[in-house]
Amino acid sequence: MEKSFDMNKGKLIVFEGLDGSGKGTQIKLLADEMKKEGRTVYLTAEPTSSSTGGMIRDVLGGFVKRDAYELSALFLADRIFHNVNPKNGIKQFLEQGIDVLCDRYYYSSLAYQGIDADLDWVMELNLGCRKIIRPDLCIFLDVDIDSCDERIEKNRLEREIYENKSTQEKIRKRFFEVFEKLGKEENIKIIDAARDICEVSADIIKIYHDLKEQ
Ligand code: TYD
Repeated sequence: MEKSFDMNKGKLIVFEGLDGSGKGTQIKLLADEMKKEGRTVYLTAEPTSSSTGGMIRDVLGGFVKRDAYELSALFLADRIFHNVNPKNGIKQFLEQGIDVLCDRYYYSSLAYQGIDADLDWVMELNLGCRKIIRPDLCIFLDVDIDSCDERIEKNRLEREIYENKSTQEKIRKRFFEVFEKLGKEENIKIIDAARDICEVSADIIKIYHDLKEQ
């Protein structure tokens, strides 16, 4: 596994959570703190803006229908591109000592595609792929379904295919099953994100400082 706590190498920190859990806001706040400390930070997200990412967005928007297995494979291809592409791939940033903060990663594939496709197969695809770097830290922003739904309602003109309460409920359950299955293999921190933005951010910054000490 490509995992390193060497501060000369960049760290890969992933944010996960349901739609509307506030990942975007918290990623920016952590990035500001890291920059204040003199780190160089690269912010990124999945699906990416690659052509595969475009195919994925057509599915998420409900314009094209694809089987869950097909969608898992598209996310996998997009994630490999996200890791290895020489222009703005995660791997080369980490090698240059640049920290990468990523909005969603393979945990989302396990939780979202894992509700319709076979979870063990989706896990094998992602965790068995040598090109997909294992994060140093995964921060899961836990917010109850109703609050997420309110945020989606406020901020979106159109809902994507997963953005309805009953599906979100299944996905939330899946996330916890996935974290249980991954166990100590991964550094996953679950944060109660239904609190004040600053309180949540302070917890995340503390976790980041703890990671630096390791
Ligand atoms: P998007 O609207 O880009 O952003 P947000 O994370 O703010 O909701 O939504 C991405 C959607 O893609 C989201 O519903 C989760 C889904 N997704 C998967 O189903 N599998 C994956 O592997 C990833 C990375 C995302």
